[in-house]
Amino acid sequence: MGRAVILKTPAEIAIMREANQIVAETLALLEEKMAPGVTTWQLDRWAEKHAVKHGAVPAFKGYRGYPASLCVSLNEQVVHGIPSKKVMVQAGDIVSIDFGVKYKGFYGDAAITVAVGEVGERQAELIRVTREALDKAIEQVQVGNRINDISRAVQHHVEQHDFSVVRQFVGHGIGSQLHEAPEIPNYHRSERTPKLLPGMVLAIEPMVNIGGSDVQVLADGWTVITSDHSISAHFEHSVAVTENGPLVLSERIR
Ligand code: MF3
Ligand code: CO
Repeated sequence: MGRAVILKTPAEIAIMREANQIVAETLALLEEKMAPGVTTWQLDRWAEKHAVKHGAVPAFKGYRGYPASLCVSLNEQVVHGIPSKKVMVQAGDIVSIDFGVKYKGFYGDAAITVAVGEVGERQAELIRVTREALDKAIEQVQVGNRINDISRAVQHHVEQHDFSVVRQFVGHGIGSQLHEAPEIPNYHRSERTPKLLPGMVLAIEPMVNIGGSDVQVLADGWTVITSDHSISAHFEHSVAVTENGPLVLSERIR
């Protein structure tokens, strides 16, 4: 049995939308600045500065000892890549950037993957399919559906394109904690999964590999890479469940 799911009031969801808007604006800013020669450390600095300017606190820094504000995961890195002054983004790289903030007591969390310059056809397809898998997952965010409907939508779309979903890391509920119940795997489970109720807020985050699904954590204790060193992509949105369907809190509205 997992921990209980915490439902949010409309007022709390409004605050979470503000938090996630700060995240979304930060990711858009970083996407603009992304270019060959930029270090992953510079991306981290820009992210933190932008969040603080808007009255938010970077959520990842210090979380279980994570040493930076941003996660930057290049190529075969799946998630939780640590920014470094020594790592420059290069043309041909696939760069995942994942950012979270705390604002007025609530968290926002989102991620995008961008191609730097020209990348291979299969790599461009990976990014597109991962983004589409997130969209298909969000379509399943309807009262009365179950977490499994979200999971199944991601896995189905990914496997249709002969990519694989990561199983060792999952999406999560989000609210006054960065990680809340329920877990949101990117693969279908045979057991019964929670029903979606109005007021749930879900961080849905497909992690998709060109090769096999297996991943491992590097000796730095954080960086997750594909075991076969194949390229990986990651997108994430924080989504509220409402009577009128999904409300994508981390989609830019202003
Ligand atoms: N979006 C990621 C997650 O939900 C970011 C966490 S990185 C950490 O797990 F450093 F905060 F752990
Ligand atoms: Co997350």
